[in-house]
Amino acid sequence: MADRNSPIGVFDSGVGGLTVAREIMRQMPDERIVYFGDTARVPYGNKSCNTVIRFTRQIIRFLMTQDVKAIVIACNTATACALETVENDLDIPIIGVIHAGARTAIESTKNGKIGIIGTEGTIRSGVYTRVIKEMREDIEVTGKPCPLLVPLVEEGLLHDSVTDEIASRYLSELKGKYIDTLILGCTHYPLLRSTVGRLMGPEVTLVNPAYETALELKQVLEENGLICDHDGSSIDKYHFYVSDLAEKFTSFAASILPGQVKETKQINIEEY
Ligand code: DGL
Repeated sequence: MADRNSPIGVFDSGVGGLTVAREIMRQMPDERIVYFGDTARVPYGNKSCNTVIRFTRQIIRFLMTQDVKAIVIACNTATACALETVENDLDIPIIGVIHAGARTAIESTKNGKIGIIGTEGTIRSGVYTRVIKEMREDIEVTGKPCPLLVPLVEEGLLHDSVTDEIASRYLSELKGKYIDTLILGCTHYPLLRSTVGRLMGPEVTLVNPAYETALELKQVLEENGLICDHDGSSIDKYHFYVSDLAEKFTSFAASILPGQVKETKQINIEEY
Protein backbone atom coordinates (compact mmCIF):
# COMPACT_ATOMS: atom_id res chain seq x y z
CA MET A 1 0.00 0.00 0.00
CA ALA A 2 1.44 3.35 -1.07
CA ASP A 3 2.28 5.93 1.59
CA ARG A 4 0.40 9.25 1.39
CA ASN A 5 3.67 11.14 1.92
CA SER A 6 5.51 9.41 -0.93
CA PRO A 7 6.21 11.46 -4.06
CA ILE A 8 4.18 11.63 -7.27
CA GLY A 9 6.01 10.35 -10.34
CA VAL A 10 5.71 12.55 -13.45
CA PHE A 11 7.35 11.81 -16.79
CA ASP A 12 7.69 12.93 -20.38
CA SER A 13 10.08 12.41 -23.27
CA GLY A 14 11.85 15.63 -22.29
CA VAL A 15 11.07 19.07 -20.90
CA GLY A 16 7.42 19.22 -22.05
CA GLY A 17 6.05 17.45 -18.99
CA LEU A 18 7.42 20.27 -16.84
CA THR A 19 4.33 22.24 -17.95
CA VAL A 20 2.26 19.61 -16.12
CA ALA A 21 4.64 19.37 -13.14
CA ARG A 22 4.41 23.17 -12.80
CA GLU A 23 0.63 22.97 -12.55
CA ILE A 24 0.79 20.17 -9.96
CA MET A 25 3.22 22.31 -7.93
CA ARG A 26 0.79 25.25 -8.12
CA GLN A 27 -2.30 23.28 -7.16
CA MET A 28 -0.69 20.97 -4.58
CA PRO A 29 2.31 22.86 -3.18
CA ASP A 30 2.99 20.35 -0.38
CA GLU A 31 3.26 17.29 -2.61
CA ARG A 32 6.66 15.83 -3.49
CA ILE A 33 7.45 15.12 -7.14
CA VAL A 34 9.96 12.88 -8.92
CA TYR A 35 10.22 14.03 -12.53
CA PHE A 36 11.82 11.97 -15.29
CA GLY A 37 12.59 13.42 -18.76
CA ASP A 38 13.70 10.86 -21.34
CA THR A 39 16.09 13.30 -23.01
CA ALA A 40 18.20 10.54 -24.57
CA ARG A 41 15.25 9.23 -26.58
CA VAL A 42 13.16 12.35 -27.29
CA PRO A 43 11.12 12.72 -29.51
CA TYR A 44 8.57 10.00 -28.91
CA GLY A 45 6.14 11.45 -31.43
CA ASN A 46 7.69 9.86 -34.52
CA LYS A 47 8.19 6.41 -32.95
CA SER A 48 5.93 3.37 -33.09
CA CYS A 49 3.51 2.70 -30.25
CA ASN A 50 5.36 -0.53 -29.42
CA THR A 51 8.54 1.45 -28.81
CA VAL A 52 6.72 4.08 -26.74
CA ILE A 53 5.11 1.31 -24.64
CA ARG A 54 8.56 -0.21 -23.99
CA PHE A 55 9.96 3.20 -22.94
CA THR A 56 6.93 3.82 -20.72
CA ARG A 57 7.34 0.48 -18.94
CA GLN A 58 11.02 1.19 -18.26
CA ILE A 59 10.22 4.63 -16.85
CA ILE A 60 7.46 3.23 -14.65
CA ARG A 61 9.90 0.62 -13.30
CA PHE A 62 12.39 3.40 -12.52
CA LEU A 63 9.71 5.55 -10.83
CA MET A 64 8.63 2.57 -8.71
CA THR A 65 12.19 2.40 -7.34
CA GLN A 66 11.54 5.95 -6.04
CA ASP A 67 8.48 4.66 -4.13
CA VAL A 68 6.00 6.89 -5.95
CA LYS A 69 2.39 6.78 -4.79
CA ALA A 70 0.89 7.74 -8.18
CA ILE A 71 2.11 8.37 -11.71
CA VAL A 72 1.22 11.10 -14.20
CA ILE A 73 2.07 10.42 -17.83
CA ALA A 74 2.77 14.06 -18.69
CA CYS A 75 3.11 13.19 -22.36
CA ASN A 76 0.26 12.95 -24.85
CA THR A 77 2.10 10.50 -27.08
CA ALA A 78 2.80 8.07 -24.22
CA THR A 79 -0.75 8.53 -22.93
CA ALA A 80 -2.14 7.76 -26.40
CA CYS A 81 0.08 4.71 -26.94
CA ALA A 82 0.61 3.22 -23.51
CA LEU A 83 -1.84 4.28 -20.79
CA GLU A 84 -4.46 1.61 -21.50
CA THR A 85 -1.75 -1.08 -21.76
CA VAL A 86 0.13 -0.24 -18.56
CA GLU A 87 -2.64 0.85 -16.20
CA ASN A 88 -3.70 -2.69 -15.35
CA ASP A 89 -0.13 -3.73 -14.44
CA LEU A 90 0.02 -1.24 -11.55
CA ASP A 91 -1.35 -1.19 -8.04
CA ILE A 92 -1.00 2.59 -7.74
CA PRO A 93 -3.09 5.19 -9.63
CA ILE A 94 -1.83 6.31 -13.04
CA ILE A 95 -3.35 9.05 -15.19
CA GLY A 96 -2.57 10.65 -18.54
CA VAL A 97 -3.31 14.04 -20.09
CA ILE A 98 -5.78 13.27 -22.86
CA HIS A 99 -9.12 12.98 -21.05
CA ALA A 100 -8.42 16.22 -19.21
CA GLY A 101 -7.69 18.07 -22.47
CA ALA A 102 -10.74 16.65 -24.21
CA ARG A 103 -13.06 17.62 -21.36
CA THR A 104 -11.77 21.20 -21.18
CA ALA A 105 -12.08 21.66 -24.96
CA ILE A 106 -15.69 20.46 -24.95
CA GLU A 107 -16.51 22.93 -22.18
CA SER A 108 -14.84 25.72 -24.15
CA THR A 109 -16.22 25.27 -27.68
CA LYS A 110 -19.27 27.25 -28.77
CA ASN A 111 -19.42 26.31 -32.45
CA GLY A 112 -18.59 22.60 -31.93
CA LYS A 113 -15.37 22.73 -33.99
CA ILE A 114 -12.24 21.70 -32.09
CA GLY A 115 -8.70 21.50 -33.44
CA ILE A 116 -5.86 19.46 -31.96
CA ILE A 117 -2.17 19.89 -32.54
CA GLY A 118 0.14 17.14 -31.35
CA THR A 119 2.86 14.74 -32.39
CA GLU A 120 2.44 12.36 -35.31
CA GLY A 121 1.91 9.50 -32.84
CA THR A 122 -0.85 11.29 -30.94
CA ILE A 123 -2.73 12.48 -34.03
CA ARG A 124 -2.30 9.14 -35.82
CA SER A 125 -3.71 7.27 -32.81
CA GLY A 126 -7.00 9.19 -33.19
CA VAL A 127 -7.42 8.99 -29.43
CA TYR A 128 -8.42 12.64 -28.93
CA THR A 129 -11.13 12.31 -31.58
CA ARG A 130 -12.38 9.08 -30.02
CA VAL A 131 -12.48 10.49 -26.49
CA ILE A 132 -14.16 13.74 -27.60
CA LYS A 133 -16.77 11.86 -29.66
CA GLU A 134 -17.49 9.57 -26.70
CA MET A 135 -18.26 12.68 -24.65
CA ARG A 136 -20.09 14.60 -27.42
CA GLU A 137 -20.75 12.93 -30.71
CA ASP A 138 -21.70 16.08 -32.64
CA ILE A 139 -18.31 17.77 -32.28
CA GLU A 140 -16.17 18.17 -35.38
CA VAL A 141 -12.52 17.39 -34.65
CA THR A 142 -9.55 18.31 -36.84
CA GLY A 143 -6.09 17.07 -35.91
CA LYS A 144 -2.80 18.40 -37.23
CA PRO A 145 0.59 16.84 -36.43
CA CYS A 146 3.33 19.44 -35.79
CA PRO A 147 6.44 17.25 -35.35
CA LEU A 148 9.10 19.95 -35.64
CA LEU A 149 7.76 21.95 -32.70
CA VAL A 150 9.14 19.46 -30.13
CA PRO A 151 12.83 19.74 -31.14
CA LEU A 152 12.45 23.54 -31.36
CA VAL A 153 11.20 23.61 -27.75
CA GLU A 154 13.92 21.18 -26.59
CA GLU A 155 16.45 23.57 -28.15
CA GLY A 156 14.93 26.46 -26.22
CA LEU A 157 13.82 28.35 -29.37
CA LEU A 158 10.61 29.53 -27.72
CA HIS A 159 10.64 33.03 -29.22
CA ASP A 160 12.38 32.74 -32.56
CA SER A 161 11.57 33.58 -36.17
CA VAL A 162 12.28 29.96 -37.22
CA THR A 163 9.69 28.69 -34.74
CA ASP A 164 7.24 31.32 -35.98
CA GLU A 165 7.67 30.29 -39.60
CA ILE A 166 7.26 26.57 -38.89
CA ALA A 167 4.28 27.04 -36.58
CA SER A 168 2.64 29.32 -39.14
CA ARG A 169 2.92 26.64 -41.86
CA TYR A 170 1.41 23.98 -39.60
CA LEU A 171 -1.41 26.17 -38.33
CA SER A 172 -2.46 27.61 -41.71
CA GLU A 173 -4.31 24.37 -42.45
CA LEU A 174 -6.35 24.68 -39.25
CA LYS A 175 -7.25 28.29 -39.94
CA GLY A 176 -9.55 27.26 -42.80
CA LYS A 177 -11.52 24.91 -40.52
CA TYR A 178 -13.21 27.65 -38.45
CA ILE A 179 -12.30 26.01 -35.14
CA ASP A 180 -12.97 28.11 -32.04
CA THR A 181 -10.93 25.89 -29.67
CA LEU A 182 -7.47 24.42 -30.12
CA ILE A 183 -6.05 21.73 -27.83
CA LEU A 184 -2.31 21.99 -27.24
CA GLY A 185 -2.12 18.20 -27.47
CA CYS A 186 1.57 17.88 -26.70
CA THR A 187 2.99 18.94 -23.37
CA HIS A 188 5.80 20.83 -25.12
CA TYR A 189 3.39 23.19 -26.88
CA PRO A 190 2.21 25.32 -23.91
CA LEU A 191 5.77 26.68 -23.98
CA LEU A 192 4.88 28.09 -27.43
CA ARG A 193 1.50 29.37 -26.29
CA SER A 194 2.12 33.01 -27.17
CA THR A 195 3.26 32.11 -30.72
CA VAL A 196 0.35 29.74 -31.34
CA GLY A 197 -2.12 32.22 -29.82
CA ARG A 198 -0.89 35.07 -32.00
CA LEU A 199 -1.03 32.95 -35.16
CA MET A 200 -4.52 31.56 -34.47
CA GLY A 201 -5.98 34.90 -33.40
CA PRO A 202 -8.12 35.94 -30.42
CA GLU A 203 -11.24 34.11 -31.60
CA VAL A 204 -9.58 30.72 -30.93
CA THR A 205 -9.33 29.55 -27.29
CA LEU A 206 -6.19 27.55 -26.53
CA VAL A 207 -6.58 24.57 -24.20
CA ASN A 208 -3.60 23.45 -22.13
CA PRO A 209 -4.53 20.08 -20.57
CA ALA A 210 -2.07 20.62 -17.67
CA TYR A 211 -4.52 22.50 -15.46
CA GLU A 212 -7.26 19.85 -15.72
CA THR A 213 -4.73 17.04 -15.36
CA ALA A 214 -3.57 18.45 -12.01
CA LEU A 215 -7.20 18.75 -10.90
CA GLU A 216 -7.85 15.14 -11.93
CA LEU A 217 -4.72 14.03 -10.05
CA LYS A 218 -5.90 15.77 -6.91
CA GLN A 219 -9.26 14.04 -7.15
CA VAL A 220 -7.63 10.63 -7.70
CA LEU A 221 -5.31 11.15 -4.70
CA GLU A 222 -8.29 12.15 -2.55
CA GLU A 223 -10.29 9.11 -3.62
CA ASN A 224 -7.38 6.85 -2.71
CA GLY A 225 -6.53 8.53 0.60
CA LEU A 226 -3.18 9.62 -0.84
CA ILE A 227 -3.10 13.40 -0.30
CA CYS A 228 0.05 14.14 1.72
CA ASP A 229 -0.30 15.34 5.28
CA HIS A 230 3.16 16.84 5.72
CA ASP A 231 4.10 20.50 5.46
CA GLY A 232 6.04 20.68 2.19
CA SER A 233 7.77 23.95 3.03
CA SER A 234 10.41 22.22 5.16
CA ILE A 235 11.51 19.43 2.81
CA ASP A 236 13.40 19.04 -0.45
CA LYS A 237 10.30 18.26 -2.50
CA TYR A 238 11.36 18.08 -6.11
CA HIS A 239 13.78 15.63 -7.70
CA PHE A 240 14.64 15.60 -11.39
CA TYR A 241 16.10 12.76 -13.45
CA VAL A 242 16.96 12.52 -17.14
CA SER A 243 18.46 9.93 -19.45
CA ASP A 244 20.97 12.37 -21.04
CA LEU A 245 22.71 15.74 -20.46
CA ALA A 246 21.57 16.71 -16.99
CA GLU A 247 23.04 20.25 -17.06
CA LYS A 248 21.15 21.31 -20.17
CA PHE A 249 17.92 20.07 -18.62
CA THR A 250 18.61 21.83 -15.32
CA SER A 251 19.05 25.26 -16.90
CA PHE A 252 15.95 24.86 -19.06
CA ALA A 253 13.86 23.53 -16.16
CA ALA A 254 15.05 26.34 -13.91
CA SER A 255 13.73 28.87 -16.44
CA ILE A 256 10.28 27.25 -16.35
CA LEU A 257 10.16 26.43 -12.62
CA PRO A 258 12.01 29.31 -11.03
CA GLY A 259 13.65 28.38 -7.73
CA GLN A 260 12.53 24.74 -7.80
CA VAL A 261 15.35 23.02 -9.70
CA LYS A 262 18.60 22.54 -7.79
CA GLU A 263 20.10 19.68 -9.73
CA THR A 264 19.22 16.93 -12.18
CA LYS A 265 20.59 13.41 -12.03
CA GLN A 266 21.33 11.35 -15.11
CA ILE A 267 20.36 7.68 -15.07
CA ASN A 268 20.65 4.83 -17.54
CA ILE A 269 17.00 4.14 -18.27
CA GLU A 270 17.84 1.08 -20.40
CA GLU A 271 18.80 -0.71 -17.16
CA TYR A 272 15.18 -0.71 -16.00
N1 DGL B 1 5.65 16.09 -24.94
C1 DGL B 1 5.23 14.89 -25.55
C2 DGL B 1 3.76 14.85 -25.88
O1 DGL B 1 2.99 15.42 -25.14
C3 DGL B 1 6.13 14.19 -26.50
C4 DGL B 1 6.81 14.93 -27.55
C5 DGL B 1 7.74 14.01 -28.29
O2 DGL B 1 8.60 13.44 -27.63
O3 DGL B 1 7.61 13.86 -29.52
O4 DGL B 1 3.34 14.20 -26.80
